[in-house]
Amino acid sequence: MAINIVGSEFPLKTFHATPRGIIGWGAYQMAGVEAKKVGIKHALLVTTGLKGTGIVDEIKGVLQYAGVEVTVFDKVTSNPKDYEVHEAHKVYKEANCDGLVSVGGGSSHDCAKAVRIVETHNGRSIRDFNGVCDFDIEVNIPHVAITTTCGTGSEATYATVITNTEKKFKMLIFEYSAYASRSIVDPALIRTLPPKLTAFTGIDALTHAVEAYTSRLNILTSYGIALHSIELIGKHLREAFGNGNNAEAREAMAWAQYGGGHAINSGGAGVVHSIAHSLGGLLDSPHGMCNSIALVPSQRYNLVACPEKFANIAKALGVDTAGMTVMQAAEAAVDEMESLINDLEVTETFSDLGLKEDNIDQVTEFALKDFCSVANPRNLTKKAIDDLLRQCM
Ligand SMILES: [Fe+2]
Repeated sequence: MAINIVGSEFPLKTFHATPRGIIGWGAYQMAGVEAKKVGIKHALLVTTGLKGTGIVDEIKGVLQYAGVEVTVFDKVTSNPKDYEVHEAHKVYKEANCDGLVSVGGGSSHDCAKAVRIVETHNGRSIRDFNGVCDFDIEVNIPHVAITTTCGTGSEATYATVITNTEKKFKMLIFEYSAYASRSIVDPALIRTLPPKLTAFTGIDALTHAVEAYTSRLNILTSYGIALHSIELIGKHLREAFGNGNNAEAREAMAWAQYGGGHAINSGGAGVVHSIAHSLGGLLDSPHGMCNSIALVPSQRYNLVACPEKFANIAKALGVDTAGMTVMQAAEAAVDEMESLINDLEVTETFSDLGLKEDNIDQVTEFALKDFCSVANPRNLTKKAIDDLLRQCM
């Protein structure tokens, strides 16, 4: 066996740029202008429906006012499925659309991104695209991604997560043709999010920032934006949960989720996402809820691998670490995450999501193989993931 003489596990870094973003109150009103700028004449509007918010009709109106024809596909579900992608692609072709507008959280954006991958590759099955694809086809049909949650970050990333319903796992697809042409993040849309979803998506954003910052990929360009997103979440997520009309808190969370997306786009994620992907694929469990349950035990497991980074996370979360040793500060970071999750009244467990003793082996196996496990700061073993799952039941 050859001796490894390379000093770093990942000596060559890759920085992935993000699409042009428009962020701020009323940004959604730019949807029509931006869709036209990127060349959309007839958009397939891809969404879960966002029933009761009026958002879909409002954005449809904004697009039509700018002269963009709209066909709505509102059958996307949580953990978007491979067959939904192909249904949406069929509607795209039949309606002679020439671009996409996704409205919602990660499910809507990822379904739209997957439709574009399918279209770019002449209708191939989305199941062919698991992992790093690297086709280098960077030009694609235009796509405007408009975000309505404070968690996804998907509007800013080239990752697309789709459930393979045949094999019951979530495919993590890294493909440049998935990048949106424009991302729009508007606190006015995020303000419609109810408290429970604010909590779950907000913890998803925190998980993106924490996992990208502690990732063993060590991408320096992710560090600053990840820490700042952690700081915003530490300061404002409780307020956004407690009073959805708090404009300052909603705006802070809009930036935090966008920053989390930037951070993971190059920095990568870790075991919390590996577990959430496995449960999402097997049990259709909501992504943010899985992360909210798994974050604390997973980070308690991870902190010995990079205590200084966790000590910095403690400071970003507002913990006064003066007089603490590095390990005490690192432990305080995880304690503060636990306090936040308790304040957000996350009481669910993996048992509530339907995880049974019989499934643990399968979830562990999928989580170990998940692409995010590669970047987790501490080495992962079957036993380690098994232990984490049992702590979450
Ligand atoms: Fe996530």
